[in-house]
Order: sequence, then structure tokens, then C-alpha cells
Amino acid sequence: MNIICKIRENDISELLRKVLNKVAPYPKGIGVEIMTVCNLKCKHCRVNIIDVEPQMMELNFFKQIVDRISPIIKKVVTFQFSTIEPFFHPQLFAMMDYVSKYNKYISYPLLTNGMLLNDKNIASLCSRRVPSVTVSLDGCKQETVESFKTGAKFDKIINNIKILKKMDKPKVNTIFVATSLNIGELVDYVDFCADLGINRIFVNGFLSYLPELSHLSFYSKEGNLEVRKVFLKANERAKKRDISIQFPHLVTARKRCDNLSHMYIGENGNVSPCIHLARKTPLALMGEKGVTIPIMSGNVFKENPVHIWSRLAKSRSEPMSACRLCAEAHGVIVSKSSALKDLL
Ligand SMILES: C[S@@+](CC[C@H](N)C(=O)[O-])C[C@H]1O[C@@H](n2cnc3c(N)ncnc32)[C@H](O)[C@@H]1O
Ligand code: SF4
Repeated sequence: MNIICKIRENDISELLRKVLNKVAPYPKGIGVEIMTVCNLKCKHCRVNIIDVEPQMMELNFFKQIVDRISPIIKKVVTFQFSTIEPFFHPQLFAMMDYVSKYNKYISYPLLTNGMLLNDKNIASLCSRRVPSVTVSLDGCKQETVESFKTGAKFDKIINNIKILKKMDKPKVNTIFVATSLNIGELVDYVDFCADLGINRIFVNGFLSYLPELSHLSFYSKEGNLEVRKVFLKANERAKKRDISIQFPHLVTARKRCDNLSHMYIGENGNVSPCIHLARKTPLALMGEKGVTIPIMSGNVFKENPVHIWSRLAKSRSEPMSACRLCAEAHGVIVSKSSALKDLL
């Protein structure tokens, strides 16, 4: 891995980012949407709200995309298979092997609902460059998990985590999407995850696509003192149990979104700044609602992908007006190591 990739892996200043983009106009990672359909039907999730034809990307079409973007693949650190459910694609590992032909150091961190893991695919991922598997687990009680993620089976997910943990690698993390429904479970959740041998817990905020689900989130312009106390308690418990934990900010403020460091390629080869701007997506944030206007920055079959990325990287150094109603652009969704400083 070259030195620029190593620097890009870290949280860097806007100035350094601009300099890097000048000398090496490549993203930190690439994501290709290899499916538009999920094995679960979570009612709060974008995948079940947007209007899209359900489909799985053909292996041959995927290879054509990869051939086109190979100059970028050679320079990036990570490759992400879909923003939906990577294990739902029957040719996930054939796809990984094809990408690795262009860059044997590229890695494939996986984010999954944990339902489709089994001995066979766990063995397959262990023999590839998968540094971590992050499993969505929004509580430590069966009822909490199953009532939030439609179709999830608590026992199955926990059993699959245990199989993963028997392997030497990858690291096994969890994501806890914190809402008004499960926040009371967070401190016990830390113990539960520590007992399972989880490496890191990412506590994420809830992004409301529909106004009727806005009551599930608890960040605001002023923050939230009650939830702050729970986060601090969970942090203390995590220290005691020697498990790593990260939190999102609780105070909304326009921030540079990490999505903008990655190149997102949709199921048809279209490049967009992020999933929410790839197609019309409803968003509701603190009493306001709207629908995004899709931004198509180019198509990898019609233009040199390096040129598409250079143009995109230049246009997105400032917070974009298109992200006004996106909670991700306000720092309150994704866990950040920096958010803890604000809590203390
Ligand atoms: C879109 S899913 C894709 C990976 C996989 N299917 C899963 O569920 O983990 C990625 C993460 O987003 C979370 N998520 C889905 N809808 C969300 C929402 N409205 N707000 C915050 N996180 C959400 C999921 O719980 C999961 O942790
Ligand atoms: S499993 Fe993940 S991608 Fe699928 S519907 Fe649920 S949150 Fe969305």
C-alpha cells in the first residue's frame, strides 16, 4: 500500500485532503452497488423506502465495471460490496477475487445483517483480505432486535457471531443504531458484546427518511442531556470491559460527510456523491422534510472514471446544499472517535 493510501486511512484535515487530491486524485475507497434488493425488509431502511427495480448485478457486468475503474482500484485502500447486504449476492467471493487481480492489497471490510453468514461463507471470507465483519445488532434482547429489523432472527445472528469469533480473523464489530426504542439497553449491551468477544461497538444515530419515524432519533441543535448520560455510562462500562466503543455526535452541525471520500458506483455504472443522492430519497430532519434531487456525476462506461472522480472531488470540498436535510451531513449518524471528546 502506498503512503498516500496510508494517510487517507486516517481522519485528515481539509487542507491536507485538498493537497492529497491534487497530487493523487483518488478516493479513499470504492463502493459498487451489486444489488438493489435485501434479504430483510427493515421498515426504517432506505432500501425499502425508495422506488427501485429489485435486481442482482451479473458477474460479467461487475467485471466490466471493475475493468473500467481498474486505474482507481490500484490506488485505493478499501472496496465495498453494496450498501445493502453483501452476503445476499451468490457471487460475492468471485467478485472479490476479480477486484484483487488489480490490487492484491485492497481490503474488503464487510457490513452485514448477520442473517446469511454460515460456515461456508465464513471460511471463504477468512481466506481473503476481509479485515473486519461488522454485524448490525441493535440490542441485546431478542424482542428489541427482531421488532426493529424486519425478518431478523436474534438467535441466528448471535450464533453466526459466535462462529465468526472462532476464527483468527477478521475482527468482529457491531453497529447499534441508537433510537428511543433501544437506548435503555445500551449499557447492558456493552456487557453482552464484551461476553461475545466483539472487538468494537459502533453506536450510530438514527436517520429518519420519513417524518413518521423522526421520533426515534434524539439528536438536536442543543444536544440531548439524557442520552449523553447514557453514552457516558456505556463508555465507562466499555472501559471496564476493555472493549472499544464509538459514538455519534448528539448536537447537529453541518460537517463534511465521510461518504464524500468514497467513490460510489450504482448498479448501472452511474457515479453519484453518495447513496442518498443516487436517486430520489425522502429525508426528514428536525421538523423539516424533503426529497433529494439525484446527482449523476458521470457513468464509468461513458467517461474515464479518473476524470469523473477528479471533477467530483473538486466540487465537494465544501458542505453541499443537496445535503441540507441529511442527518449524515450533520455528524449525528456515523460513530466517530472524535465524538467522545464532545461528550466528556
Ligand atoms: C443499510 S445497512 C447495510 C448492511 C446490512 N444490510 C445491515 O443491515 O447491517 C447499514 C447499516 O445502516 C443501518 N441503518 C439502516 N437504516 C437506518 C436508518 N434509518 N438510520 C440509521 N441507520 C440505519 C443498519 O442497521 C446497518 O447497521
Ligand atoms: S438488512 Fe440492512 S440493508 Fe437490509 S433492509 Fe435491513 S438495514 Fe436495510
